[in-house]
Amino acid sequence: MYSFLDRSFAFHQQDDSSHKSIAPQWLESLPLVTEADDLANYQGYFAYQQVAGEDALSFFAQLDKQWVSISVDLVGGQVAYRRQQGGGRKQHIAKACGLKSNRNPTVLDATGGLGRDAAELRNLGCELRVVERSPYVASLLQDAISRAQANPETNQLFSQGFELHHGQAIDLIEQLSAEQQPDIIYLDPMFPPRNKSAAVKKEMRLVKRLVGEDPDADNLLPVALANAAKRVVVKRPSYAPYLNQQKPSMSIESKGNRFDVYLMTRFSNGN
Ligand SMILES: C[S@@+](CC[C@H](N)C(=O)[O-])C[C@H]1O[C@@H](n2cnc3c(N)ncnc32)[C@H](O)[C@@H]1O
Repeated sequence: MYSFLDRSFAFHQQDDSSHKSIAPQWLESLPLVTEADDLANYQGYFAYQQVAGEDALSFFAQLDKQWVSISVDLVGGQVAYRRQQGGGRKQHIAKACGLKSNRNPTVLDATGGLGRDAAELRNLGCELRVVERSPYVASLLQDAISRAQANPETNQLFSQGFELHHGQAIDLIEQLSAEQQPDIIYLDPMFPPRNKSAAVKKEMRLVKRLVGEDPDADNLLPVALANAAKRVVVKRPSYAPYLNQQKPSMSIESKGNRFDVYLMTRFSNGN
């Protein structure tokens, strides 16, 4: 059974009316720390900080003896660039998911993480059910979804057709009714990075602090194959072996990544 109990994080309750100071629902069990000096006793902490003029839930930890932080942004930055100028349905992720201009498939993103891929698929017109089991990562993502819902530019995208569930994806997938069966199940479990670019390195290192390694990732594939209506798409670094060592119907190479596509015509009981 995967456990989060070995992590020692806190919530920094700031005595400062310019920031939110109440821990979000999934972080309620964290110790509340009011004195900034006491935060060094923890492996990391959550607090609200101003990012692009808004209070964003952020995770802080020390990397190489420096405090650094991450928060999720589904409105600005790279996500905005992709939303406004992105390669549309010619993108690798769109090809891997088989997106056609006349159809908007339903996607279950079983490994939500910081929501980048889910936001991209939503921008491309898919309806998303996103699952994330880490209460830490799910809290960062939920906070970003709330900010995106409050923003007029992204309200429609994230208020309808985009749901986050905090929990174990395998359980959730197995409990779906026939009507809830998604067209596509999308998987992107953790895999040790080779990319040494400073930004990726920082983000990946912080996410790894939060969730560890996903040692049970192989278990996701058989459940996904048994429950997707049309295809399962697995994102892997180019150098990674196939998930569960199972050869896909096809692979689409992207920059540094590979999308392994399992078509249900081949994998569902020979239909
Ligand atoms: C590499 S990250 C995903 C990144 C994501 N695709 C993005 O664009 O931000 C993998 C995430 O999947 C989550 N995860 C792994 N296995 C899971 C499972 N069985 N159920 C739910 N979440 C899972 C981990 O907690 C981690 O946050």
